[in-house]
Formats: sequence, C-alpha cells, structure tokens
Amino acid sequence: MSMFDWSKECKTMKIPIIAGNWKMYKTHKEAFQLASALKQKLADVDRTKVVLCPPFTALASVKEAIEGSHILLGAQNMHWEEKGAYTGEISPQMLLTIGCKYVILGHSERRSYFFETNETVNLKVKSALEFGLIPIVCVGERLEEREANKTEQVIEDHVRGAFKDLAADLVKRCVIAYEPVWAIGTGKTATPSQANEVHLFIRELLSSMFDKDCGQDVNILYGGSVKPENSKELLEMSDIDGALVGGASLDAESFEKIVRSAI
Ligand code: PGA
Repeated sequence: MSMFDWSKECKTMKIPIIAGNWKMYKTHKEAFQLASALKQKLADVDRTKVVLCPPFTALASVKEAIEGSHILLGAQNMHWEEKGAYTGEISPQMLLTIGCKYVILGHSERRSYFFETNETVNLKVKSALEFGLIPIVCVGERLEEREANKTEQVIEDHVRGAFKDLAADLVKRCVIAYEPVWAIGTGKTATPSQANEVHLFIRELLSSMFDKDCGQDVNILYGGSVKPENSKELLEMSDIDGALVGGASLDAESFEKIVRSAI
C-alpha cells in the first residue's frame, strides 16, 4: 500500500465542521431515515462541513441517503491494519471503499471501555492518513484530572501521543476534537471560555511541536453536550472551529439547529 498523496488534495478554506457521532444508536433503516431527513433539511448548507458518523452497519445506507448532497460520511473507529485475521475489526480500506472521508479516533469511550491507548491511537492516525482518511482525533480530561489541575498535562499527553512521528504537513490535515470527559453525555458543557482556553493551548502546543502554522491550520472541534441551546455561543469563540455532537445529533431537528448556528 503506497501512501495516499495528500499534496494532490486541495487544502480547503477553513470552514466550520459539524460532525454527528451517532455512537451505538440507529439500525441501518433508522439511520437511512435520519440521514434522508438531514439531506432535505440541510440542502442549502454548503459553507459548513456536515459529517455523519453512524455505526459501521449503517455506513452503506447513510451513504446512499446522502448521495448528491454536501453531507460527508465518517466512521467511529477503525483498525490500523489494511486487512488480516482481526475478528470483529474494520480496516481503513473498508471505510474508504464504502465512502468514508473521516474517521473518529481515540474517543474517550473507546479509551475507557475498550482500552485504547495513545499508542494505538497513534497507529490509527498514521494508518488513516496513509489511506487518505481524515482522522478526527479526540482528546480530553476527566473530571478528577481537571480538579487536580491536570487538564493541560492530559491534553498534552493525548496530543503528543496521537501525533507522534508525524510530519507537520500531515498533522495539518487532521481534525482534533476537544471533548472534556466530564461533559460527554452528562448535560454539563464546558463554558465557551473554558473550551476556548483549551483549544488555544492545543494550538500553541501544535505550533511548538511542528511548525508555526500548525496550530492555526488544524481544525479543532469542541464536543461534550453540545445542543441547540449552547452551540452558538461555543461556535462563536475564536478558537472553536466546529463541534462533535453526540446525543443531539440523533434528532434531525436539533442537529439541523446546531449546523445552522455555525453559519
Ligand atoms: P454528547 O457526546 O454530545 O452526547 O455529549 C459527544 C461525543 O461523545 O462525541
């Protein structure tokens, strides 16, 4: 497998990205219905990148539903190998051929329930880039870490781990999602300034690790209880480039409102 040639991919202007992480919800039929409803509701939206990340079993039906629209397809995880005897796993090649453009990697639920580590996230990030998939790399601290003033240390560990041994040019193609673990599915959102502060920290870290522009070039999304009631104030912050939405992405109306708040 030769490396995907990113230099031939035009670097699009930085426009907001709103990604829906459907987690382990929706059968393939329900997913088709939700994606079809979103295609209709968001037909006029072309200045925000909308990415739907359904479960693996619904990727094909969502792809079919969004055909002919601006909506893009993403997966929630993948193995780093191209193929092999890895029962239960899905390869980057499989995601690519089904129509995925994005893949969420290192989500906190995968780190805590399925023992993903910075090392495996790093292998996955490298592999995704090699195949031409854009990784959405999740980083974020737990409540006890925030309370012990360890937020920056944890984020630095996650960022350094995920992007270890990567060239600046490739890192710039990635998306990062800052998702404080205490805000995921809890209804507790980081305040816009709390979130922005961490986004800024990530930008400075990337610039110091790679090159000066890296921090500015990487899209950094906020995730954790984003809903129509709070999305606008979060998305207005200087260093928040979009959102990774869980619960509120499962309902067409609320997801539409969030997408429109980014316009
Ligand atoms: P939530 O999930 O919006 O339901 O908090 C976000 C995520 O886990 O990506």
